[in-house]
Amino acid sequence: MKEAIINQSKSLPPRTFFLSLIILSLFLLLFLSLQSHKSLEKPTSDNNDDLKIRPGYTSYDSYIHHQLQKTTNPKLRKIWTSRDWDRKIRVFTHFFNRLKREKLLSNSSKALCVGARVGQEVEALKRVGVNDSVGLDLVPYPPNVIKGDFHFQPFDDRTFDFEFSNVFDHALYPDKFVGEIQRTLKPGGICVLHVAVSRRSDKYSANDLYSIGPLKKLFNGSELVRSRKVDGFGLDTEVVFRKRNG
Ligand SMILES: C[S@@+](CC[C@H](N)C(=O)[O-])C[C@H]1O[C@@H](n2cnc3c(N)ncnc32)[C@H](O)[C@@H]1O
Repeated sequence: MKEAIINQSKSLPPRTFFLSLIILSLFLLLFLSLQSHKSLEKPTSDNNDDLKIRPGYTSYDSYIHHQLQKTTNPKLRKIWTSRDWDRKIRVFTHFFNRLKREKLLSNSSKALCVGARVGQEVEALKRVGVNDSVGLDLVPYPPNVIKGDFHFQPFDDRTFDFEFSNVFDHALYPDKFVGEIQRTLKPGGICVLHVAVSRRSDKYSANDLYSIGPLKKLFNGSELVRSRKVDGFGLDTEVVFRKRNG
């Protein structure tokens, strides 16, 4: 049988051989492009009714495009960096000072704010003495916010002692959002999330959360330190996780 196949391939005319080669290459290219992370994988909500991914995105690019619509709006950016600037920093400062008192954050922490837009939370961290702080967003706002997608954080494993985010609801892939936080936190590192559990968030949200149950499941390499009710710009719950050692 093996011999018959070898004989058959040996007897293929050159044109047929090259044609098969081209078709094979095209299939290979198609396969590789489908593997690219930019393609839209089916978001998973882990069959958990307390975390629902909003339907309607036809591609990853359409999700990113939707997120960028508000973030790049020049009028809004003007407001965020002028009238809103100090007001928001004051509120973040209050949250971070409390975390410092609880020994969950310190001046020597290397800190990341995920989805930081114009970086008021980064500025607040610096004002409370956490100088080695940076933000990540689709749109950069130097020097406090660098460009990057939170589903694919541009940082090495075990980089940060502390990560803060109030944009979990913007994650199309909550498992990747959390996976990246756990990857880039050092063992023992702290993640603080502000999420909306009792209220619905805005039209730019990509998921809806109805309890902190799904977060406990997603943070499978961490332990829950605590959760409490807060009043944080439409977000009502603060959840704190500590990445396990090893
Ligand atoms: C509600 S705003 C929060 C801004 C900021 N944390 C604050 O409180 O002022 C949500 C932010 O998440 C960002 N964002 C949405 N999807 C993102 C993604 N995939 N990667 C990084 N940032 C993203 C948006 O650009 C936007 O700046």
